[in-house]
Amino acid sequence: MLYFQVVILAATVMLVYYCEFTDTFSPAEQGFICRDPTLSKPDPGPEQYSGIQPVILYSVVGGLPVVLISGVEVVIFLLHYNLNNLYDQEKAVVMGDCCYVNPMVRRTFRFLGVYVFGLFTTDIFVNAGQLVTGSLAPYFLSVCRPNYTALGCQNTARFVSQSDACTGNPDDIMRARKTFPSKEAALSVYPAVYLAMYVMSCVGSTGGRLAGPLLSLSLVSLAVLTGINRVAEYRNHWSDVIAGQAVGAAIAVFLVVFVVQYFKKRPSVPQSPSDAGTADTDEDSPQINHTVETSDKYAVAQTPGSCTEVT
Ligand SMILES: *[C@@H]1O[C@H](CO)[C@@H](O)[C@H](O)[C@H]1NC(C)=O
Repeated sequence: MLYFQVVILAATVMLVYYCEFTDTFSPAEQGFICRDPTLSKPDPGPEQYSGIQPVILYSVVGGLPVVLISGVEVVIFLLHYNLNNLYDQEKAVVMGDCCYVNPMVRRTFRFLGVYVFGLFTTDIFVNAGQLVTGSLAPYFLSVCRPNYTALGCQNTARFVSQSDACTGNPDDIMRARKTFPSKEAALSVYPAVYLAMYVMSCVGSTGGRLAGPLLSLSLVSLAVLTGINRVAEYRNHWSDVIAGQAVGAAIAVFLVVFVVQYFKKRPSVPQSPSDAGTADTDEDSPQINHTVETSDKYAVAQTPGSCTEVT
């Protein structure tokens, strides 16, 4: 089971590697209309010159979840360890008798592992979209530098589809052909939504009623601002940014709801002992006391929409 997960993760990482660091795949070559005003914005230059620098963006995307999730899990561990309700079920269900791993460490690794998997998945989706559509950036004509005389469109709005129409720098042209959906928008909304859902269900009212919502809304706002900045710098169209944000948000919600089920509900526990207990009301009293006790404990642990509120 673990082996299978490692294989999937390794395949994902390899795909990301081929998309990001090699030119194994090249984008579809779209044509353009001469002097199309939507493609004639000035070239904002390489990503390093962006107001939101890639180094900073990807450091936050990679580092913030590690810091935030580890921190929250340590706090949960310290606050709730004595209550034992949150963790003992997990020890029994998942670990069996085989080996003991600190449940805080286990939870942290699970949240972060799913996060990393989702991050790579988002990157693959975005790369695939960019390669398949080959959509043109708002500054495409500035880096393409087509020779309008040679292309025969001095005064008509002719559609140009020759693949050798551009005379500019090939690297810049390649960059301008990979825009839909926006990678920066997707890779900033994905962490924001994932962490917002984590915070909303796991922080609860630990830090006051408004701390969780405030943190979540701040994260999502920062991600949305990153997307707006893409449009403001002429690096993407609105449609690129909105599509990127939709991809990021959809993957985060999908993983949170269907994979990390902590966010929704505690792992389900066989209910048969309590059913048997209620059916056989004429059992001896120790048995009844025992079943009532266990079902109460599981009812507490199964409170939906909460991963910490076990009081
Ligand atoms: C554009 O094409 C025309 C005709 O082929 C040629 O005479 C001209 O030198 C070209 N201009 C540039 C800037 O390459």
